[in-house]
Amino acid sequence: MSLLLHLKGRSLLTLNDLSDAELAALVERAQELKAERRTGRRGNRLAHRHLALLFEKHSTRTRCAAAVAAADEGGCTEYLGAQDSHLGGKESVADTARVLGRLFDGILFRGYAHATVEQLARHAGVPVWNGLTDAAHPTQALADLLTIREVFGALKGLTLAYCGDGRNNVAYSLMLAAAKTGMHFVDCTPPALAPAEDRVAAARDIAGGNGGSVRVVADPREGVAQANVVYTDVWASMGEEDAFEERVRLLAPYRVDMALMQATGGLDGGRAIFLHCLPALHDRNTAVTRERGALEVTDDVFEAPFSRVFEQAENRLHTMKALFLATLGSQP
Ligand code: CP
Ligand code: NVA
Repeated sequence: MSLLLHLKGRSLLTLNDLSDAELAALVERAQELKAERRTGRRGNRLAHRHLALLFEKHSTRTRCAAAVAAADEGGCTEYLGAQDSHLGGKESVADTARVLGRLFDGILFRGYAHATVEQLARHAGVPVWNGLTDAAHPTQALADLLTIREVFGALKGLTLAYCGDGRNNVAYSLMLAAAKTGMHFVDCTPPALAPAEDRVAAARDIAGGNGGSVRVVADPREGVAQANVVYTDVWASMGEEDAFEERVRLLAPYRVDMALMQATGGLDGGRAIFLHCLPALHDRNTAVTRERGALEVTDDVFEAPFSRVFEQAENRLHTMKALFLATLGSQP
């Protein structure tokens, strides 16, 4: 609890904004808050706190997790979608930040350029949380860590293999999350989508200090060997719709199917799980997959007992609450 007191008033733009110990404490706190909520307990630790949800892109989980987390603790949220505010039109990021910062106690931003969330944080004067940019998705990674911790009881020493677009927001945040918690991270991706070398080198340094490692592997079967967690995400992120056909061509060998899950060697002993940040394009669940079949994950994996994707989605709520309480609450 005492470590979390240091988070008061701070922003979260990437996981680099948290020390390794603060990250671990936040995830642990989220697990306690989840248990508290299961008993029916709701708090008042965000009473009279107003949160702006400033979103340039669509969202189901991030928006709703934030709204429910705040309401559970007596806080209020105001949603501003792409069509709702003057941001990006008549008003600059800096001016919007200065206005919202005078009205609200915190701002959750989802959008395109990472520079936008940095500018908001620079000018708002209140905590700004990154609810996804093109470069990072740190609040997702908090929920991912909580989900893995719940299943395996700890994080250090586990192997997390991410298969897909190896340099998208989710991949980068997971890489950092794994490094900061002493996990072994494997980015299974084709050379054309390999993560930036400087970001890999930085994560590798952090991982090394925690007994973990970071590898980039082009062969998906080799990459998932011994993995405790196989993780995938959509092949074309929001804003990359034009790249869709090329991604399908590049990433088809990285589809997570039962054979790839078997290649972990951990299915039989319950030592391997499947995660996906969602939304997922599995067999025939959307117009796109009705036409083409499964993209990044097949139905048999998505629906398997070792798939923890809905616990993972629920954990967005508990981790978001932990973040709001630590940075803004009357108590963490
Ligand atoms: N995983 C995630 O961020 O989901 P949303 O896009 O629905 O917020
Ligand atoms: N990489 C995906 C994540 C969605 C939650 C995207 O940016 O669209």
